[in-house]
Amino acid sequence: MSKPKLLSTHPLFEPVCKLLNDHFSMEYWTNPERISREELLARVADKDGLICLLTEKVNDELLVKAPNLKLAATVSVGFDNIDVAACTRRGVVATNTPGVLDETTADFAWVLIFAVARRLLEGVEMIQSQTWKGWGLDQLCGSDVWGKTLGVVGFGRIGRAVARRAKGFGMNILYADAMRAAPELEREVGAEYVELDRLLAQSDYVTVHVPLLPSTRHLISTPQFARMKNTAFLINTSRGPVVDEAALVEALDAKQIAGAALDVFENEPKVHPGLLGRKNAVLTPHIASASLETRTKMAMIAAENAVALFDGRRPPNALNPEALEKSLG
Ligand code: DGY
Repeated sequence: MSKPKLLSTHPLFEPVCKLLNDHFSMEYWTNPERISREELLARVADKDGLICLLTEKVNDELLVKAPNLKLAATVSVGFDNIDVAACTRRGVVATNTPGVLDETTADFAWVLIFAVARRLLEGVEMIQSQTWKGWGLDQLCGSDVWGKTLGVVGFGRIGRAVARRAKGFGMNILYADAMRAAPELEREVGAEYVELDRLLAQSDYVTVHVPLLPSTRHLISTPQFARMKNTAFLINTSRGPVVDEAALVEALDAKQIAGAALDVFENEPKVHPGLLGRKNAVLTPHIASASLETRTKMAMIAAENAVALFDGRRPPNALNPEALEKSLG
């Protein structure tokens, strides 16, 4: 029997390719340039499955061009690139890669918190440009992190992993979420559930960990910046459109907040020009989960979902199990 045909829009790590090559007739997009929409639509047309990145949209336009498609596996936990309802309608199982990136992403949120609070980039630049004239009492004085108040917006697995680390810095931890967490989860990290407005008003560091949904788009915008302390910092490692970038630029210009550290942007890879060149904005290119270990695990999970589906089993991370019947039948 011939193997199912899969397209991967990016080269994957060696052990992942081995698993995929054993089970599937694989086509990998290996060009260093990102796959264009046209190429993607052309190459997916005869495929049974697609392994894609968060930069590729799986929507009706694509699904209609790929009548044999049974699987769309995104190598990301966030799946706002996939129209899950459209997949369900067409019997395409959509999967993501939850769980394995929580701690790595939480580590990086802390990289950003410290970098922006302690003016890391300015210090590095001083050394690199050889403009450092020696120790100075008031040189590059930043803000303390220890003992301050951390506001965690979105208390899912990543938000909680960020909060857990804050305990070690003796911080007061507030969280806001659409739903209050179970008491044992609150106790584990010593976090207090509050309304978003109170969190914004009281936190020294506001760190965002919500998925991108219609209800979270521009969750942090002009009214929210107005509530924050002018000594506070905003950190975003979730999805760019959760923060209204134009409003953020205005808030920074007006000194309504002290600074921002962003790993994600509204229109990636574009960055709002008003954010560039600011000493109080630390900007990184969507790398919060980018450790080799974690990215390998993410790709492996996508591959395992594919293997499960085509072996006639339920993929562990099916986002629309209701599509399974159609797909397997
Ligand atoms: C995700 O997985 O959704 C991250 O944004 C990238 O790791």
